[in-house]
Amino acid sequence: MIAGTTVTLICLLAALCVSGDSYPEEYDRLDMGDLLGDKEKLAKFSACLRDEGSSSCTEKSAGLKAFLLDALKTKCSKCTESQKGHVKRAAIFFSENRPDDWKIIIHKLQLNETQAAELIKSF
Ligand SMILES: *[C@@H]1O[C@H](CO)[C@@H](O)[C@H](O)[C@H]1NC(C)=O
Repeated sequence: MIAGTTVTLICLLAALCVSGDSYPEEYDRLDMGDLLGDKEKLAKFSACLRDEGSSSCTEKSAGLKAFLLDALKTKCSKCTESQKGHVKRAAIFFSENRPDDWKIIIHKLQLNETQAAELIKSF
């Protein structure tokens, strides 16, 4: 119990644990609708995605960004079912509604448009 809590805390602080063999459990309970439905939150997340300045990410958005990028890169092989749903929803949303953000995401994943479309279909 204590070990789990410590790991979660370290993950929150460093956003590094996404490279382990599973993602923090908190990402099961992500409220994607809250982010994707709110223009202001989206704009902030977009700035974080673009690495605009050292202060463009909060702890939370840095963690979410790392989670989304890693999950997409690995085709959600480490995702729980609910995490997979969140990642799919975000990928579809960004590709359809935020093409500039989606370009940044696929550039970070080193994919071209065709490969990115295939990736979405694979979910
Ligand atoms: C995308 O990359 C793949 C693999 O490198 C390549 O086969 C394909 O032709 C590329 N497609 C475009 C549109 O550049």
